[in-house]
Amino acid sequence: MARLPLAVVTGGAGFIGSHTVDALIAAGYRVCVLDDFRTGKRANLAQHAGSDKLEIVMCDVSHGIFAALAPVTAQHGPVERIVHLAAQVSVVASVANPLVDMAVNYGGTLHVLEYARAHGVKKVAFASSAAVYGDVATLPVAEETPTQPVSPYGIDKLASEYALDYYASVHGVATTALRFFNVYGPRQDPSSPYSGVISIFADRAKAGRPLTIFGDGLQTRDFVYVGDVVRAIVAAVSDGNSRLVANVGTGNEITVLELARTVVDLCGGKSTIDHAPARSGEILKSRARVDRLRDQLGVVAETKLVDGLRATLA
Ligand code: NAD
Ligand code: UD1
Repeated sequence: MARLPLAVVTGGAGFIGSHTVDALIAAGYRVCVLDDFRTGKRANLAQHAGSDKLEIVMCDVSHGIFAALAPVTAQHGPVERIVHLAAQVSVVASVANPLVDMAVNYGGTLHVLEYARAHGVKKVAFASSAAVYGDVATLPVAEETPTQPVSPYGIDKLASEYALDYYASVHGVATTALRFFNVYGPRQDPSSPYSGVISIFADRAKAGRPLTIFGDGLQTRDFVYVGDVVRAIVAAVSDGNSRLVANVGTGNEITVLELARTVVDLCGGKSTIDHAPARSGEILKSRARVDRLRDQLGVVAETKLVDGLRATLA
């Protein structure tokens, strides 16, 4: 049998990562997950138990990835493509602990890029964030908008984008940075106060417990379903583009208050909604311009919020 192309997914045991692994295996790749399981879970990859198409290697990417990948490449051949998702993902956690955030998020990206340079990896696709924009005057926000991050997390995602650009222009490593907006869907872990809002609201509303909104709830987000995000990731890591930066969102926004009411309604209306003080480092409004996603990556995020919420709640 011909050797399958090898793709590495850092953070592959996490929420977006495990869906990415599913899609890459379905697309004909052999996949190696590098994860240190700080938030990821082996259970997210249990559907591949016994498969010879998935290797899972415990590795903290902020300490380097050469040694972790050496036995895998000795057996399966060179790494062709890397999806780099491993990161500390909470904006408010980055405000509380900026040093850890920078070391993991920016440091991890540098280690991935060094590997890609040294081993001639054909493509690196990176999970950047809408947080690089900060608070912008005009929505939807296009990729050309000047970036002005307002959190350590936004700063280290932007620094990682600069590093991608440097490795592309100076060392010829082909890269794409995907600026994810607010991703949601099954397998998003609700267990931490720093978890994504939809995972927390869904978990609480299913149990009939109160939902807490930080601030007045009039802040908006562009919530994009994980299945749509994964199509963008697979396109980005497989194509021949380099130095592309693209938003990954729907082009729609909803207030957190309206989101809370929708989730409560979908769960039978038992939960109350309270308010707590707004969190620092957060942006107020967010909505993606998605022309580049469509034109350069051929992806339109088509899952309606209510359908995505139903799939998440199920
Ligand atoms: P997640 O926490 O479920 O996944 C992150 C994964 O990375 C976990 O499996 C975790 O164990 C692993 N990880 C963290 N630090 C690591 C390290 N040093 N070494 C190895 N593994 C490590 O979060 P997610 O929502 O799936 O996020 C994936 C990526 O997408 C992150 O880079 C995040 O910043 C980015 N992103 C997410 C969103 C969103 O709304 N969820 C939006 C924008 C960007
Ligand atoms: C999220 C992602 C971040 C990503 C960014 C891109 C997570 C944890 N964070 O950040 O990785 O880069 O989108 O746009 O996935 N809220 C409540 N009540 C709660 C929880 C949250 O009101 O119980 C509010 C927050 O104050 C915020 C909004 O919901 O206004 C969204 O919060 P959160 O899900 O943490 O995401 P972001 O900070 O937007």
